[in-house]
Amino acid sequence: MKNTTEPSKCILLTGGTGYIGSHTAIVLAEAGYQVVLYDNLCNSSSSVVDRLQNITAQRMCFVQGDIRDTELLVQTLQAHQVGAVIHFAGLKAVGESVAKPIDYYANNVQGTISLLQAMQATNIKTLIFSSSAAVYGNPQYLPIDEAHPTSPTNPYGRSKLQIEEMLSDLAVSDEAWRIACLRYFNAVGAHKSGLIGEASCGVPDNLMPYVAQVACGRLPHLNIFGNDYPTPDGTGVRDYIHVMDIADGHLSAMNFLDTETGWHPINLGTGQGYSVLEMVKAFEAASGTLISYEYSPPRPGDIATCIAKVEEAEKLLKWRASRGLNEMCSTAWCWQVNKVEL
Ligand code: NAD
Ligand code: WQD
Repeated sequence: MKNTTEPSKCILLTGGTGYIGSHTAIVLAEAGYQVVLYDNLCNSSSSVVDRLQNITAQRMCFVQGDIRDTELLVQTLQAHQVGAVIHFAGLKAVGESVAKPIDYYANNVQGTISLLQAMQATNIKTLIFSSSAAVYGNPQYLPIDEAHPTSPTNPYGRSKLQIEEMLSDLAVSDEAWRIACLRYFNAVGAHKSGLIGEASCGVPDNLMPYVAQVACGRLPHLNIFGNDYPTPDGTGVRDYIHVMDIADGHLSAMNFLDTETGWHPINLGTGQGYSVLEMVKAFEAASGTLISYEYSPPRPGDIATCIAKVEEAEKLLKWRASRGLNEMCSTAWCWQVNKVEL
């Protein structure tokens, strides 16, 4: 007999057909959660729903909608008796956010206000928010812990920080809220099936999808932005983390919120940095291709090194990243090869 006091096992994933959302959907479904994907498809495709079915042998419910449509959110939350929300939906291109700041605040900040209003209307008070290392801005020390000052350097990062602040205020106003702000570092890689991955349109801004397109001959060469940074080989160093590790981190955060109230900012990284040249070498080894590259001037706004301190996630979530550089590159390559066919 169904115990009606048991918390709902249904989770709404805004941005659920996107890169990190779709990988997290697999982990949650495999852990026994019912998953509802809510996405306006501005940066993803509904074909992801079929591919998730191939991977999990489960048909996930998909609602095509915008997070700024509060009424549709309320209907969806009620119809599926949702117990918690993971909020991935957002615009994420740093350069575009500088050119179109109002679009970013309208989508990310206003969209989150709408989501929170819908959650309040339906009395759902458990939320995981996709935050970003971008909230820290230029590192004042390394590795970056959660107490590091927040001083984002672009509208994208500021939209994430504004949302975090709103969520912190909300948790103070009502002690029943359970909120984790997961600050992801550089998400890379794909599910091992090669059926889902990062679907960037046009010429990618980020390193890994760019390298993958050079490897398959779609782009002639990689431009390495800067080779004179104070790093071991002069190229920029980042904390790359496998997207499936990030997905696992959400399951751990969901378990954490079963027993914890309040607002919790938590880094999701590996604590290990790799340079652009190390990434290129690792990708060559994993894909059996040669990546031609040229050095270009540093990209405006870039920093030398960004690495997470990961002890807070280990302590609170009992989670740590386990997948290494080879798995990041081999799964990204497998997805790159497959996606041409999909
Ligand atoms: P993504 O673009 O693949 O996924 C975001 C999804 O949200 C897309 O499917 C898009 O269609 C949807 N979306 C955007 N605006 C929407 C709206 N108004 N209503 C409904 N759906 C909307 O991006 P991702 O890489 O999966 O990132 C997920 C989240 O994680 C984002 O909030 C991003 O800012 C954050 N993040 C990503 C990274 C990274 O390295 N990829 C790092 C830090 C933080
Ligand atoms: C990585 C390294 C570049 C492309 C971004 C966002 C951040 C977060 C993660 C969302 C840097 C170098 C890159 C290229 C290159 N996203 N590079 N040639 O800038 O660390 O972080 O994604 O929250 O907020 O800013 O990632 O992949 O763009 O760059 O040499 O064609 O690769 O200079 O050193 P970044 P990235």
